[in-house]
Amino acid sequence: MLTESPHTMERNLLNPRTETERQIVALGPWFHNLHLPGGTQTAPDHPLGDFPRYKWQHMVPFVPADLAGCSALDIGCNAGFYSFELAKRGAEVMAIDTGERYLSQASWAAEQLGLGGRIHFRLMDVYDLPSLKRTFDLVLFLGVFYHLRYPLLGLDIVTSVARTTLFFQTLTMPQEGQIQCPGNITLADRDRMLGSAWPKMAFIEDSLEGDPTNWWVPNHAAVEALLRSCGWRSITCLGEEIYHCEDRSAALPRGARLDAHGDPIV
Ligand SMILES: C[S@@+](CC[C@H](N)C(=O)[O-])C[C@H]1O[C@@H](n2cnc3c(N)ncnc32)[C@H](O)[C@@H]1O
Repeated sequence: MLTESPHTMERNLLNPRTETERQIVALGPWFHNLHLPGGTQTAPDHPLGDFPRYKWQHMVPFVPADLAGCSALDIGCNAGFYSFELAKRGAEVMAIDTGERYLSQASWAAEQLGLGGRIHFRLMDVYDLPSLKRTFDLVLFLGVFYHLRYPLLGLDIVTSVARTTLFFQTLTMPQEGQIQCPGNITLADRDRMLGSAWPKMAFIEDSLEGDPTNWWVPNHAAVEALLRSCGWRSITCLGEEIYHCEDRSAALPRGARLDAHGDPIV
């Protein structure tokens, strides 16, 4: 079922004066603060600051300046900030989201930015990506993982459509220190899992920060372990809970599902 998720971080313009500002208010509230031609911003009062531009700054050194000929997928595109940055660099972008309102914002903003022709927006759930029967050179899976009831299924599917590069971002829970996990743990040794650095995900039964669609919050060790378990062999934490993943194993993720015909999802 496609639903719109509430986001308490969303903001709208107060006292719109120009026609562009009135359109922003009509499409709002906004989670992405987009900088439009002429200097108008969609959410200048965002509680996180100039969001998500400051997160993007951590990714920029890992994104080629010229993405001509590159196919990109932005999962949970919201108002399209990241899709626009990739399209500006020449990528052909598919951008999906389950929120119709977000896709309306993104489509409108793409026209304002003159990028409409290079981005294909689509109402789609991450779980339905295998139906596209195609892969992408570069995949963004930012800020969606913790909204999923079945996060590892989602990550397996995302991995299966990513040809070379994945940028992954999730809300995380605190972790103290680091440990080398054993290849096997005995039943008698289970208290080792109580350590702060053991890979963990906290389950949120009701709501986190007023948002009932926040289901799971992993720690840093869990993020790396989950990405490895999906087949990513080169994982770099860029800060701001963002991970750059390359060198995907040719083998299927360990938990990869089979499709309705019993064939692996590719
Ligand atoms: C926290 S926002 C992140 C937006 C953007 N990716 C970013 O990092 O700024 C989560 C977005 O994911 C979308 N979303 C939630 N569940 C989804 C799903 N199952 N499939 C695709 N998009 C989803 C929401 O509608 C929302 O736009």
